[in-house]
Amino acid sequence: MFDILDNTKEKKSKFNKAGNNKKVYIETYGCQMNFSDTEIVLSVLSDFGYNESADIEESDVILLNTCSVRDNAEQKIKNRLVHLKHYKKNHPERIIGILGCMAERLRNVLLEEEKVVDLIVGPDEYRKLPFLIENIFETGEKGIAVKLSKVETYDDITPVRKDGVTAFISVMRGCDKFCSFCVVPFTRGRERSRKLSSIIDEAKNLSGTNVKEITLLGQNVNSYRDNGNDFSDLLKSVALAVPDMRIRYVTSHPYDLSDKLLETMAEFSNICKFIHLPVQSGSDRILKLMNREYSVGHYKGIIRKAKAIMPGIGLSTDIIAGFPTETDDDQKMTLDLMEEVQYDGAYMFAYSPRENTKAYKYLDDIPEEIKQKRLEEIIELQRKISYDINEKLVGTEKEILVETISKKSPDFIMGRTDCNKSTIIPKDSHKIGDLVKVKITKANSATLFGEVI
Ligand code: SAH
Ligand code: SF4
Ligand code: F3S
Repeated sequence: MFDILDNTKEKKSKFNKAGNNKKVYIETYGCQMNFSDTEIVLSVLSDFGYNESADIEESDVILLNTCSVRDNAEQKIKNRLVHLKHYKKNHPERIIGILGCMAERLRNVLLEEEKVVDLIVGPDEYRKLPFLIENIFETGEKGIAVKLSKVETYDDITPVRKDGVTAFISVMRGCDKFCSFCVVPFTRGRERSRKLSSIIDEAKNLSGTNVKEITLLGQNVNSYRDNGNDFSDLLKSVALAVPDMRIRYVTSHPYDLSDKLLETMAEFSNICKFIHLPVQSGSDRILKLMNREYSVGHYKGIIRKAKAIMPGIGLSTDIIAGFPTETDDDQKMTLDLMEEVQYDGAYMFAYSPRENTKAYKYLDDIPEEIKQKRLEEIIELQRKISYDINEKLVGTEKEILVETISKKSPDFIMGRTDCNKSTIIPKDSHKIGDLVKVKITKANSATLFGEVI
């Protein structure tokens, strides 16, 4: 097996950059971090003459950028690999590689268990991809690189972005929070921040393109630090540097979301009034077992302050149903909190035990059918809350940034409000990238419908 050493300079000269012309097909799973990383991977590979192809049939290299956060995310990849065998049958030289969190978590095991896989590369090793791939083409030896780094931020790499009006900028990598259920600190390694100046440069470069909205990304953006600047300082600097751009961020952890951050959001009109603030549970006892480091009271305090200084702010959350030892009373506390906060939306999951995490040692004692029943209860309540909130917006006026043609009809377009709500309007003469003032005429739990004012 080939584990490349840091001899990249020497190796670089060996490859024919421009003349490579090999085609890479890549599928991305998991969170926005992975989508952002795929853009880094494409940049690294394009420097060595690889071109992205949307057509798997014509590809020389197939890459899956994977997620490990829950067991079903990994099962999806394993099923996909069964399918991918077919693409290797008539093209045995075609390389299949696993990138991302599953590569990092499963390492050699994945290579041994999944015979169709030639290449395993973890999130901090993407600079090595061209060398690993080339080596497989030359020698047929499988390749693996899964070291985590304390410093890698890919700061100098310009992501290859798809055309669109929205863009991600990754501002930090890794996570040191070690929530007891979560695999991310193991798959992504230690927290590290990019330089503020390089983030600002990237934002400014984007403002000369079609991009109209930037989302700053990190597993916990509150941990951002560069030279005495915290995340609020970064957010403010970006807001000032690109005043015509809408700015969003994910994800903020309730433990260390500061008043200063809320005040910065309130101060700048180009920072979207929307916070994704994962709560996970409405029970203090469960939060403690989850190692979330905040209480429900503290969480509600943040929400109160956010609503007070930004009336109409959009809120979303993540919730886990069926964490070990969770009782019906704990579940009730989660439902009560949802009623009280009135989230615009939520990502809701059944607890999935992950090897090596602290919670893996707890007994996974909630039977699957109870987990599912609680999850359904949470989903149903959220659907009702979202519907009630959206229904109240009928008759109001909003500004939307047009992102795409509607999936259902070419005569309609979809844009998002400041609060992140998908809104469908007739296409008329509007273009993707336009900011359009609309009056909301209809709503369901997921979508608003409007007419142009
Ligand atoms: N960094 C983000 C979350 C990243 S993972 C944050 O802390 O907010 C996204 C979501 O997946 C988590 O918020 C959690 O709700 C869910 N999740 C993570 N591990 C899980 C597990 N083992 N089982 C079920 N859901 C999980
Ligand atoms: Fe996972 Fe917690 Fe880090 Fe989020 S903050 S990535 S849930 S360990
Ligand atoms: Fe999944 Fe890794 Fe993101 S585990 S949620 S792709 S950081």
